[in-house]
Amino acid sequence: MKRLIRQDSYGKEITMGVGKGFVDKVLGDVFHPGGLKLTSELAQLTGIDENTDVLVMACGEGDSAIYLANDLGAKVYAVDIAPEKIKEGTKKARKLRLLKRVFFKNASVYNMPFLEEMFDVVLCEMTICLFPDKLKALQEAYRVLRPHGTVIFSGVIIHDIPRETEKKFRELTCLFSSPSISEYIELFKKAGFKDVKGIDRSEIAVEQYDELKKKWSKLRFFSKIFLQETVVNEKEFTNLIKKGERLIEERKVGYGIFIGKK
Ligand SMILES: C[S@@+](CC[C@H](N)C(=O)[O-])C[C@H]1O[C@@H](n2cnc3c(N)ncnc32)[C@H](O)[C@@H]1O
Repeated sequence: MKRLIRQDSYGKEITMGVGKGFVDKVLGDVFHPGGLKLTSELAQLTGIDENTDVLVMACGEGDSAIYLANDLGAKVYAVDIAPEKIKEGTKKARKLRLLKRVFFKNASVYNMPFLEEMFDVVLCEMTICLFPDKLKALQEAYRVLRPHGTVIFSGVIIHDIPRETEKKFRELTCLFSSPSISEYIELFKKAGFKDVKGIDRSEIAVEQYDELKKKWSKLRFFSKIFLQETVVNEKEFTNLIKKGERLIEERKVGYGIFIGKK
């Protein structure tokens, strides 16, 4: 069985979210808090319209990319490291006759097959928390943006959670390799971006967790099979889920939007 979580993931490669695995099936296709409603907010913040060339980094199955092309008329390139996600995105775009406006490419965000200064907007949702080398991904975003172009990311933020809890969560989900808002802002600046702003949207994390809880019964049903492949046992897993809930309720784990200019 394909591993969803690799034990060596602490600071190394990404794990969860790669491939069309069990977690994807439980969680659904658009796997970012806020769904396409938040994507439309990101589009408004960056002024995406039919004259905008957009790059979507780590696009998953492409719903946001397709939305930007279909509803807003943008020309969109979208990359993801998982070939099956790219295949799925292309299939959806073909169905909607969008293949002249949205182009899916199988590539890593660390080394994208684009020339310098090709895009007006680079957008990435819910995935920076999965990048072990966040700075390198941001530097790639900077490289492919046109001068005065806009970068916009959304992702998990954490405030001050116990180190051991964080480590376990990282091993289990990889979602919590997430800095705080101010640390993110510093990272964006280090990559070269100007006028960097962080917007705390942690209320979305609460909503997302409520959604997840609805799906929890399914997750429990599969959890035994799932956990054979992971680094924790069932009891630990249940405890971590409870801790996760508490951390979100206490606003120690939340969600943020980061925007900056080249
Ligand atoms: C949590 S999903 C989010 C997908 C999409 N952004 C969304 O909001 O629905 C994470 C995605 O990041 C992709 N990914 C992870 N690491 C990557 C990398 N280094 N380069 C490109 N894609 C990556 C995974 O394959 C997966 O599709």
